[in-house]
Amino acid sequence: MGKKVFLASDHAGFSLKSALCEHLKEQGHEVYDLGPEQAISCDYPNSAFKVTDKVLENEDSLGILICGTGIGMSMAANKVKGIRAALATCEFHAKATRQHNNANVLCLGERVTGVGVALGIADIFLNTEFEGGRHLRRIELFDKM
Ligand code: RB5
Repeated sequence: MGKKVFLASDHAGFSLKSALCEHLKEQGHEVYDLGPEQAISCDYPNSAFKVTDKVLENEDSLGILICGTGIGMSMAANKVKGIRAALATCEFHAKATRQHNNANVLCLGERVTGVGVALGIADIFLNTEFEGGRHLRRIELFDKM
């Protein structure tokens, strides 16, 4: 079933964001591109918070953030209570972080991860469910901080 997905990037993640938006629409997801509209220099925390706001407002939605490395986006997003952002560089990261961490935001680095690999990571992230159980107890230990 298609997911509601919010995406944003900075200038360094712009072209991967464009590729992801097109691909995820083709996969039947409800895709919201929160910018930027062009690859002009911008500050990644502002993009991160646009997505985290929407993910928190929309139950069962997921976010994707792309910068040069994915690191700055993950740092910024993880400052927001209720957000569990995961930087993924392979499909196993994507699968495990949904199953075990119930990650609600995926972070990608355009300067690190090729577009083909990144599309595969996003597909796995959007199509894998949280396993709950002992993993719920563990994320509750940090969600309440
Ligand atoms: C932009 O040059 C770069 O610093 C940014 O995209 C990101 O990689 C930060 O973590």
